[in-house]
Amino acid sequence: MSCNILAIESSCDETSAAVISDGKILNNIVATQSVHEKYGGVVPELASRAHQQHLIPVVAEAIKSSGIAKEELSAVAFTRGPGLMGALLVGVSFAKSFAYALDKPIIEVNHMEAHVLAHFIDSPQPAFPFICLTVSGGHTQLVLVNSPLDMEVLGETQDDAVGEAFDKIAKIIGLPYPGGPHLDKLAAKGNPQAFTFPLSDMKGLSFSFSGIKTAVLYFLRDNIKKDPDFIEKNLENICASVQHTLIKMLMQKLVKVTKERGIKEIAIAGGVSANSGLRETIMEEAKKYRWNVYLPKLEYCTDNAAMVAMAAHFKFQAGIFTNLNVSPLAKLKI
Ligand code: KG4
Ligand code: ZN
Repeated sequence: MSCNILAIESSCDETSAAVISDGKILNNIVATQSVHEKYGGVVPELASRAHQQHLIPVVAEAIKSSGIAKEELSAVAFTRGPGLMGALLVGVSFAKSFAYALDKPIIEVNHMEAHVLAHFIDSPQPAFPFICLTVSGGHTQLVLVNSPLDMEVLGETQDDAVGEAFDKIAKIIGLPYPGGPHLDKLAAKGNPQAFTFPLSDMKGLSFSFSGIKTAVLYFLRDNIKKDPDFIEKNLENICASVQHTLIKMLMQKLVKVTKERGIKEIAIAGGVSANSGLRETIMEEAKKYRWNVYLPKLEYCTDNAAMVAMAAHFKFQAGIFTNLNVSPLAKLKI
């Protein structure tokens, strides 16, 4: 009998549902919440309300386009955390009720593990053990992946996530939310050496991205005093220089951990893994260090339910299910 899993993602501002059948992703329906744009960041209460509006149509579309009747589902999976509590509650509550009504088991998924396991949706796939640099709006982690069910965080940010740094700096520059992709596009046309920003002096495998945000703020303030049009005149160069610095900070620690562990299988995951500068840089480093690098397809970089479905597939195979009294956890760890 086939193993068909419906997966739901609602941890932040994307409402998503996907169906996986015997390890093959059949679809990945994503409803992006545009309501946050005018506030320049995700407003948690509005995210929860938008999930409530979007979830049923998104799930209905995922089931319909999969060609699998809901009675033929083997399990219902959902993101338990980490994420915004109200947003998670919508997905978790729906998944529990839906599964209960259908008398199917449920599977909880850790959102950060799901980002890593997005690499198993398509080929080529990394061989174990590999290092995954997971870079999103809420996290920046170096993860040692021993198997789909065995991961260890070797280093992470001590303050802001790198996606947060992209978004906050983009906001200072005056770009729309979410700023990361806008900054990426402008950076492609600029000179990365035009301006210099300080790298973090974090020890070991820890990251820090709050310093560069303040450095950019002061740098712009000082230059605007001399020339009110400084940003407009230098927009592409500012973006390229900021992006160059953020990528350098990521690469320093990635190179360090791969040397320490003697691992050459390297993956990147999470929203910021869509960044064109990061993708290019890691491919250049791969030549230098003889790494095998795995880049997720763009649709599996930012939040999506296909990665949750993939993670649930591995749990289903291992017979790992969740009790119906489960509740979401905003700070769920790997
Ligand atoms: O993984 P994700 O969709 O959500 C979280 O789990 O946080 O990541 C969202 C983050 C945002 O900060 C967004 O600006 C960033 O990923 N992002 C990018 C790019 N695409 C998305 N940052 C830089 N360059 C991009 N092309
Ligand atoms: Zn994410």
